Amino acid sequence: MDARKLKIEAAAVALTYVDDGMRLGIGTGSTAEEFVRLLAAKVAGGLTIIGVPTSERTAQLCRELGVSLTTLDETPELDLTIDGADELDGTLSLIKGGGGALLREKIVAAASNKMIVIADETKVVETLGRFPLPIEVNRFGLEATKIAIIKASADLGLAGPIALRLKEGEPFITDGGHYILDASFGSIPDPKTLSCALYAIPGVVEHGLFLGLASAAIIAGVDGIRTLTV
Ligand code: 5RP
Repeated sequence: MDARKLKIEAAAVALTYVDDGMRLGIGTGSTAEEFVRLLAAKVAGGLTIIGVPTSERTAQLCRELGVSLTTLDETPELDLTIDGADELDGTLSLIKGGGGALLREKIVAAASNKMIVIADETKVVETLGRFPLPIEVNRFGLEATKIAIIKASADLGLAGPIALRLKEGEPFITDGGHYILDASFGSIPDPKTLSCALYAIPGVVEHGLFLGLASAAIIAGVDGIRTLTV
């Protein structure tokens, strides 16, 4: 079965959690985009929801497909967020930010009563860290922030290349106007401690460890769909 079909299957199950009148956080990435397409078809059929997009890219797709949008300022409390992930473990700790939208994704998820992750089986890991951890940093003081991240992670026994994310040869700029450092630490046995250490660095705007935010994950694999909950 191809990867896109699995994403569509996970997205279709997620759609069954969407009720009429819901205030919905709408994720970013190729899996979330499949969800938007299915959601748009339901909206065309009469479903009424209002969405808060987690990126400009998602906002554009929603507009193109006729999904009504609002902002978190107008609607600061959401019923449900559906989003993809780059990696998830059995406790529903996540790595996100492969698409560069981690800051808005985390703000939207935190403003939601419930976050459901949609992913294919390849995203499930025993221990987080196979996927490089995206760390969104202020453009000011990039090198100093990078050195601080190296020191803080070394104190936790973590090491590995930390690369400035590029797009078409230029630094990738997030929707918030920041850079992203992708940290290839390898296995992250204690995500909570790493999270706290990264938050303590002034130039770090946000990081891609999503801990205690997701309450369910819909995982599509060749053998079918399974739902993980915590
Ligand atoms: C964007 C994200 C995405 O949810 C994550 O990268 C997964 O994307 P995809 O569904 O394309 O694999 O965190 O910032």
